[in-house]
Amino acid sequence: MPAMQEQLQAIAMEGMHHPHPNPLLYALWVRWRERGNGQEQLQAIAMEGMHHPHPNPFRQRERGTRQEQLQAIAMEGMHHPHPNPHPGEGDEAGAAQALFSGDHVNNKNFLGTQDWSRPELDSLLEQARRFRANRLGNELQGRSIALLFFNPSMRTRTSFELGAHQLGGKAIVLAPGKDAWPIEFDVGSVMDGEAEEHIAEVARVLSRYVDLIGVRAFPKFQDWSVDREDRVINAFARFATVPVINMETITHPCQELAHIMALQQHLGGDLKGRKYVLTWTYHPKPLNTAVANSALQIATRYGMDVTLLCPTDEYLLDPRYMDFARQNVAANGGSLSISHDPQAAYRGADVIYAKSWGAIPYFGRWDQEKPIRDAHKHFIVDEAKMALTNNGMFSHCLPLRRNVKATDGVMDSKACIAIDEAENRLHVQKAVMVSLVGSGIGNGESRMV
Ligand code: CP
Repeated sequence: MPAMQEQLQAIAMEGMHHPHPNPLLYALWVRWRERGNGQEQLQAIAMEGMHHPHPNPFRQRERGTRQEQLQAIAMEGMHHPHPNPHPGEGDEAGAAQALFSGDHVNNKNFLGTQDWSRPELDSLLEQARRFRANRLGNELQGRSIALLFFNPSMRTRTSFELGAHQLGGKAIVLAPGKDAWPIEFDVGSVMDGEAEEHIAEVARVLSRYVDLIGVRAFPKFQDWSVDREDRVINAFARFATVPVINMETITHPCQELAHIMALQQHLGGDLKGRKYVLTWTYHPKPLNTAVANSALQIATRYGMDVTLLCPTDEYLLDPRYMDFARQNVAANGGSLSISHDPQAAYRGADVIYAKSWGAIPYFGRWDQEKPIRDAHKHFIVDEAKMALTNNGMFSHCLPLRRNVKATDGVMDSKACIAIDEAENRLHVQKAVMVSLVGSGIGNGESRMV
């Protein structure tokens, strides 16, 4: 073990006895517990037994003072499985090569693309292209995935279930609260409400059965400060001993990969310098910001000149994702701008990506947002706006309400690549599943204490 790590462990062990846990120690514990190697995880579990550092292991990083956040970020930098997740993308080609080799132990989970290096994402896309050419294989022979849907799905469910089957694996679909017991996520809760079991048991039991767990859990749309903690999938990641895959929570990383794969199909592999517009569209209901957050992340990650087009500043995305986008621009080139003017934004665009989402300041007060939303129905993607583009492509994650978000004319035009993007979900998710089970982490049995 490196001397630095020994010292940190020693400091951590000392700090655990302190009545007010040190934020440095706290960040170290999170890193070990969530993403550490076998020895680090054991160490973290031992530490929990002495003194639990914090009831919510994600709060400090997100809600600590500026000083605490900087300390936590500094510690993450030391222990992050990808020490340099944004800049210097080219440094990790070796990690990408190892992705499907069985030696890859870093990416325990697929929670968001920001945790994966560009070479790793490129490697997933390459594997996805191989799966597109050859659908059947045995890469998941004898393997299984539990797919937990807290919200409805058509594409995600079908593509994961079928993808596992086509590679020799088995998918089990569960809808907690409907065909499986409702789950409690609060630590220390007196469970006298609807929930019949706790995530601590659910995630660990499933980990004894399956090799992977997929989770779809949308925000509750009442309080964004709560929703932005993404507590359901983070709780699965905390308690599961097998890799966890984000099937859409407050981001949608599988959609990101499918989207980039479709753009590369139609525009070529290098997307740098392409003009990309993420446009808000009207929808009668406030929808999840997940796909918008994801589009902003992945388009900037691939060096495009990105415009976020939305009705007012109230529709800007959470600062976490705006910051990720700015960091990506700094690391990869390209640009990020904000526009409230559809004509200006569409002019010369290579890509129009549409999505509707609820304005964050109005979470829980949707009656007050409605007049703003209703005043911007003209943000619909139509032929007149598409005519302003550089013969641009149009896409959407689907489902899409025709003639509300985009016209029939746009949806049925050659410019629309939404069906290709939807198909790609099948291919990219196979690549993600294979990379995670190929990591050597495998079934939780060997990692239980
Ligand atoms: N795009 C997408 O995730 O589709 P579903 O909601 O149908 O799964």
